[in-house]
Amino acid sequence: MRQSKDTESSQILKDILSEIDELKEKIRQRDYEYYVLDKPVITDEEYDKLFEKLKKIENEHPELVTADSPTQRIGEKLTGGFRTARHKIQMLSLDNTYSYEEIKDFDRKLRDSLKIERIEYVVEPKIDGVAVSVTYREGIFSSGLTRGDGLEGDDISENLKTVRPLPLRLKKCAESMGEILVRGEVYMKLQVLEKINRERAAKNQELFANTRNAAAGSLKNLDPSVVASRNLDIMFHTIIGKAWKKHSLAVAKLHECGLPVFYPPVKITTTEDLLEECGKWEKKRHELDYAVDGLVIKVDDMEFREILGQTMRSPKWAIAYKFPTQRAMTRIIDISIQVGRTGFLTPVAVMEPVKLKGSTISRASLYNADEIQRLDVRKGDDVLIEKGGEIIPKVVSVLKHAGRSEKFKMPDKCPVCGSPVVHYEGETAYRCISPACPAQLKAKILHFTSRGAMDITGFGDKLAQKLVDNDMVCDPGDLYSLSAADLSNLERMGEKSAQNIIFSIEKSKNNPLNKIFYAFGIPNIGVKTAKTLSEIYSSVDDLSSASAEVLTGIEDIGPVVAESIVDYFSLKGTKEMIEKMKKAGVRLSGLRSTHAGTAFKGKIFVITGTLSLPRGKFIEIIEKNGGSVSDSVSQKTDYLLAGESFGSKFEKAKKLGVKIIDENEFYGIFKTPSV
Ligand code: IVH
Repeated sequence: MRQSKDTESSQILKDILSEIDELKEKIRQRDYEYYVLDKPVITDEEYDKLFEKLKKIENEHPELVTADSPTQRIGEKLTGGFRTARHKIQMLSLDNTYSYEEIKDFDRKLRDSLKIERIEYVVEPKIDGVAVSVTYREGIFSSGLTRGDGLEGDDISENLKTVRPLPLRLKKCAESMGEILVRGEVYMKLQVLEKINRERAAKNQELFANTRNAAAGSLKNLDPSVVASRNLDIMFHTIIGKAWKKHSLAVAKLHECGLPVFYPPVKITTTEDLLEECGKWEKKRHELDYAVDGLVIKVDDMEFREILGQTMRSPKWAIAYKFPTQRAMTRIIDISIQVGRTGFLTPVAVMEPVKLKGSTISRASLYNADEIQRLDVRKGDDVLIEKGGEIIPKVVSVLKHAGRSEKFKMPDKCPVCGSPVVHYEGETAYRCISPACPAQLKAKILHFTSRGAMDITGFGDKLAQKLVDNDMVCDPGDLYSLSAADLSNLERMGEKSAQNIIFSIEKSKNNPLNKIFYAFGIPNIGVKTAKTLSEIYSSVDDLSSASAEVLTGIEDIGPVVAESIVDYFSLKGTKEMIEKMKKAGVRLSGLRSTHAGTAFKGKIFVITGTLSLPRGKFIEIIEKNGGSVSDSVSQKTDYLLAGESFGSKFEKAKKLGVKIIDENEFYGIFKTPSV
């Protein structure tokens, strides 16, 4: 009897294990298609379902969680910094060349020393990122180091695991390979940098100057969850110490193991073709979604590599050809100061317009007083500006100071409102803290009305400026008392446009709480934190009375953010603005799930996409108010409630003529009485 029970439970365990293995394999394959091949074959929703299922089983059986499970991508925070470790094989660097002449020389020298007519080369893009060395054991990710000084690097294993194109388990063919050491470059895609910088600008944080700095800065973060949020990428180019006759064969093997590599390898045998390839890449580099600062030309044959050897620092069998950086000379007309939403002063170089990489540049951020001091840039200076692989132009260096020029000093008064500027010894920031500063007010309005915030259309720089200049608003709360007539009285504003703006302002009164929390523009609160807060606090009043201690208890909220929230709500100006919003009928609380009524009596809903609150909340509300929720769209469906990034249900509803509503319209029907 006992034996049969044991057999039964071991069978159950086997079943669970095989289900886990099957899920892991499916997720791994989907990750490979999505991150490495860039060809997803299932929807995000389907992927999430697989992932959730695996997480659920692993939660029930923590003893079955393995290091290579896709759920293990985010590890523990490091407290004492990174451990350093020695590289088993030194990480070399590459010699640089800057001209076609030097490439010809390189080829000639190699042919002379090998005493052969032609050499087979492989040419690869040189990704502008951070060099890493990664070890796999029996096909499973084991550890990863930064280059460091080439002999010793930082152990960044936990952070590397968050890099999604990096497989935690290689494909089957790698299992027999024992321990392998592969090298590559961690980098950040250009559009990822753009997005991160936009978010950082909104939080008044310093921007990353380029993708390399962003990747390096991210990899050095001690919190793997922050690294994961940076969406880093990786590309491998080398496998160490294995007996492939050719580099191109090794690359093919890495490709077969599921590692992202430049594939298929580009082989070239004549100098002319090498130069032609360089020309092609120079043109093509700007069409890529990652920064490439040159090409790497490598001898393909491993035996030749052995003969050619290396110097202390770099191999003799490879060379980097660096693209000419796009630089230009111009003159600083002025250093102006921009005042942001939270009063931070940012110096901006205003320059004589100059063409660089196809666009005309006339302004470049100088970031902060420290950067100005480093460059010692002054009004009237001749400077060198650069736009490499990066999108943001920057001042690289001063070529010549203008005659009798003086060192730039940050102003002690706000250039817009004249209030004293606050600067603490040892800090980089300079701030205008006057609540009445028009520059801050304008920036606040632009933030409040922006898409991620209250999504009020028609607000641009000019309209915000006019409203401020004409004293029509003292804070964003005043937007709700504007009339179409007020707006059409403004210069160059037609009646129709004015009506549209008022309509959009009205519509925003029903925005969900996460949008409102974000729209307030509380320092350090981005879209994600606003969403977290809206899931915990069901009204503005609730959040405004939360203590720093309680806030710090929330996941992802540290003491700085908590303090920032408490400070914000303690301001007199904040209280006045909230009062105005309340009076105007802006819904300042979420849906209270306990409210029961008949608003949705007999109505059938289908829900798709991401909503501001968990789906369960909407289902609960619909059901408590007499409606029901179905999984799929049919003729019987009354409403499709569609959030962001909706799925195929949307198309189906459109085809069947089902009424499609967004969250605002949902609230409109519901007319929540929970305020
Ligand atoms: S091969 C001996 N291939 O550039 C080093 N390196 O400036 C052989 N890099 O340390 C490296 N893309 O981190 C190679 N396709 C590529 C590369 C590449 C970027 C980096 C690598 C190297 C640095 C040298």
